[in-house]
Amino acid sequence: MLDESIQELESRSLARIASAKSPEELEAVRVDALGRKSGLTQFSREMGKLAPEERSRIGKLLNSAKQKLEEALEVKKQQFAEAALRARLDAEWVDLTLPAPGPRRGHLHPITRIQRELEELFVSLGFTVLDGPEVETEYYNFDALNIPAEHPARDMQDTFWLDGGNLLRTHTSPVQVHGMERLGPPLRMIAPGRAFRNESVDASHEHTFYQLEGMMVDREVSVAHLLYFMKTLLTAIFKREVTVRLRPGYFPFVEPGFELDIQCLICGGPGCAVCKQSGWVELLPCGLVNPNVLRMSGIDPEEWGGFAFGLGLTRLVMMRYGIDDIRHLQGGDLRFLEQF
Ligand code: DAH
Repeated sequence: MLDESIQELESRSLARIASAKSPEELEAVRVDALGRKSGLTQFSREMGKLAPEERSRIGKLLNSAKQKLEEALEVKKQQFAEAALRARLDAEWVDLTLPAPGPRRGHLHPITRIQRELEELFVSLGFTVLDGPEVETEYYNFDALNIPAEHPARDMQDTFWLDGGNLLRTHTSPVQVHGMERLGPPLRMIAPGRAFRNESVDASHEHTFYQLEGMMVDREVSVAHLLYFMKTLLTAIFKREVTVRLRPGYFPFVEPGFELDIQCLICGGPGCAVCKQSGWVELLPCGLVNPNVLRMSGIDPEEWGGFAFGLGLTRLVMMRYGIDDIRHLQGGDLRFLEQF
């Protein structure tokens, strides 16, 4: 009786193991067949009631059934594990021979690029690159440049005044004064950097913009020297002939002073927003250094002369790349910046 029950349980369990469809189903079979409440455990408990020789025979039978079931369970378990691994390998397959997308790399801002280009050009012409403070005193920004208090030229530049009488420099010209004081004549220097004006912002005006100041002090410097350097500069920048015109211009720190204009490279002449419909863009105010300016910085104007210019770097970048709105440059929009 007991023999048959054991054998029947064994074959029934083996069949269930063979047809199990998932690890969960397999576990259920294991619990039914070998668990504490299973048939086999039940049978072992009943063994105590048997005669000794019967007991050893049934014991062997039970052991062999238990062993067979455990082996079958293990084999099936392995099969499930292998199938799961195969499925995962199929699903997560990666083709390592495909080209990688590559890292997204940034690049220099167009203003930085043009600034570095010009620094290189001027260094090759024997100029030193100087840096100066963005917060200036009234003396360096105005007085030392021949713009005393009450001088109407102070109104030409709307100034951001700071507490304590200091200001955000309205141009890079104060670096001329630092350069003259520190290096003395003869002197060839440029000073690229930011300048600030309290203006209402539109397509061609920003409160923050970039300039490049240049100055040469030597014996017998004339307008011819000035023109030579300005032409060399413009050819290097635009890598082609640009049409220029020279107008008299007033700046207290130069005498004579000029406005060097270039024909608008955006519209080529007929007029647009950048050139304010005039066809010309003021690009390069310049002149011969006013003797007062030299004198204030301790340089004898009888012995030394000089030229100076103030290049609008921001405007230059707009001309070179055909940008029609100055606000794009500092807007931080990557869709704009990625085009350069
Ligand atoms: N500092 C002037 C400005 O920002 C530009 C300028 C004009 C600089 C004439 C010069 C110069 O050196 O000679 O408006």
